[in-house]
Amino acid sequence: MTLDPAMTGDRTDPHAQARTARQQPFLLHSMSVFHEMFKILFTYKKIESVLEVGVESGQVSSIYTQLGASKVYCIDPYPTTELRETLAKNPKLELVERPSPQVLAELAAADLYVLDGDHNYAVLHGELTYLLKHAPDAVIALHDVLWPWSRRDLYYEPTLLAGDAKHEVSFEAGPTIWHDELTPAGFVGHGSYSVAVEAGGERNGVLTAIEDAIAEADDDWLFVIVPAVFGMGVMVRKDAPFAKKMLDALKPYTSSKLLAMMENNRIAMYTRVLQLQYEAVAAAENHDRFAEEIAHQRVEIERLHGDLARQSHELQVLREQNAQLQRQLRDPDLAAEPNIGTVLHQLSRVAGKQIRKARNGS
Ligand SMILES: C[S@@+](CC[C@H](N)C(=O)[O-])C[C@H]1O[C@@H](n2cnc3c(N)ncnc32)[C@H](O)[C@@H]1O
Repeated sequence: MTLDPAMTGDRTDPHAQARTARQQPFLLHSMSVFHEMFKILFTYKKIESVLEVGVESGQVSSIYTQLGASKVYCIDPYPTTELRETLAKNPKLELVERPSPQVLAELAAADLYVLDGDHNYAVLHGELTYLLKHAPDAVIALHDVLWPWSRRDLYYEPTLLAGDAKHEVSFEAGPTIWHDELTPAGFVGHGSYSVAVEAGGERNGVLTAIEDAIAEADDDWLFVIVPAVFGMGVMVRKDAPFAKKMLDALKPYTSSKLLAMMENNRIAMYTRVLQLQYEAVAAAENHDRFAEEIAHQRVEIERLHGDLARQSHELQVLREQNAQLQRQLRDPDLAAEPNIGTVLHQLSRVAGKQIRKARNGS
């Protein structure tokens, strides 16, 4: 029996699996996880050229050259410095800084297309309409064919789409598994994309675009889904010589109820984590607001203490003057000094001040 220690650990290294687990990104989302499926595509069709739409960090691009491609066109209108550096290391990778679908007609037909750019009906439908007509011998792989973008458009920013190609959007809220409406605790673009407010209906979402494009191409294409990590789709023409063998080889993945169940569990847990994070941030903000309010109240209490001390002192002076006055009234000999008129004058000044303060409420 041969076990993979990275998968199982062993008696002397029982933490190997946990180590492997914590080295993964918290949310798997790159198509690089589909290495096994790409290997099957390359096994059943000779693939020399690849056109990858939507490249992001470029971590998938070199997989195609490792599997045998001699040229990969990496289409991304918004390349980062990291992407430029990654692609520059491999001369078989060529960055094309143009948006899809417009760019497709400018490049020669490829053997494999990987569509993972703008995840909305208008762009996907445009890409597929072009490819099903002009690249009938190609294999087309697609990402995000399942929740959340299967039946809801996402629009990368800045978008080139005209207003009528888009649904009503939200920038501040995103989808969650836990209810049907968007929420600020869901998959929110934070400025990099907006999402359609409503899911479903016509011309909305990646999967809806795939269904329509296939129907419009006389249903000549087969489409299967690997139900993991947001869903990988594979499209081949029904009469392609490699179609049956390729799709048969993919079947353990495409027919796996276990994979589908684990994906649903993953997105449910992840969006619960997003919600908990959101609530934790909101609680911390509340805490900060309370702390500020308490500090403000403390200053106010100190000011009132100061006022109270001053007024107590003035009251004390008044009491003493009053006592003096009483003594003078009882014993007129004392009245000669100090002058009773002066005392009364002082008394009325202090009393007037107190009355004014009381009127002003301070
Ligand atoms: C989900 S990421 C791609 C991830 C990458 N394929 C991976 O699996 O690692 C989507 C990328 O599509 C790019 N993009 C957005 N609109 C596009 C368009 N119209 N054409 C091509 N790429 C686009 C974005 O800049 C972003 O880098």
